[in-house]
Amino acid sequence: MDLLKQKIEKDGVVLSDSVLKVDSFLNHQIDPVLMQAIGEEFAKRFKEDGITKILTIESSGIAPALMTAITLGTKVVFARKRKSLTLVNDLLTAKVYSFTKNETNEISVSNNFINENDRVLIIDDFLANGQAALGLLEIVEQANAKAVGIGIVIEKAFQEGGKLLRDKGIKVESLAQIELLENGVVTFKEEVTV
Ligand code: G4P
Repeated sequence: MDLLKQKIEKDGVVLSDSVLKVDSFLNHQIDPVLMQAIGEEFAKRFKEDGITKILTIESSGIAPALMTAITLGTKVVFARKRKSLTLVNDLLTAKVYSFTKNETNEISVSNNFINENDRVLIIDDFLANGQAALGLLEIVEQANAKAVGIGIVIEKAFQEGGKLLRDKGIKVESLAQIELLENGVVTFKEEVTV
């Protein structure tokens, strides 16, 4: 997705050989025009998949998930990382370990909002080691719903998440795939078009 790649090149900051800072348009300040284009692109890639629900995880997954949902005409559910005062009963939960932060969070979703009739699209901002996506897949499984695909805004292709998920046979669509972060420069993976 050219618009996204241009934005990453212009406004992304390579913090190290493994971390890209995109606070100015995705992780802190949000660019609504870019987010709308992201939503339309995800909707295009999953339009034939009969999606009935979008599942994401707070906080940075919510904006791209919401924009996708507007185009596909579905609702969005976001998994919570912290305990909520009101979200106490009938919870679907999964443990998510973050290699980056070296901590485990229990994520939770109310089972009122995903059920066995749902065809779920999982959306997230980054794909690194794939642990968040695996946790969301576990929640979909607990709901007896069908995980139809995963949409990722930025995939760090040099980390293992993408392979882990694709090896499970899941349709994974990433709008920008980063091959390398080196000496402050972002190198994108060439897109193969068929
Ligand atoms: P994983 O789920 O793929 O295994 O990712 P990991 O544990 O490594 O990542 C933990 C958090 O760091 C996630 O956000 C993830 O989106 C984010 N992250 C991973 N790599 C990068 C990167 O290169 N740049 C940026 N900006 N973020 C990265 P989070 O802590 O849940 O944050 P938020 O969703 O509340 O913003």
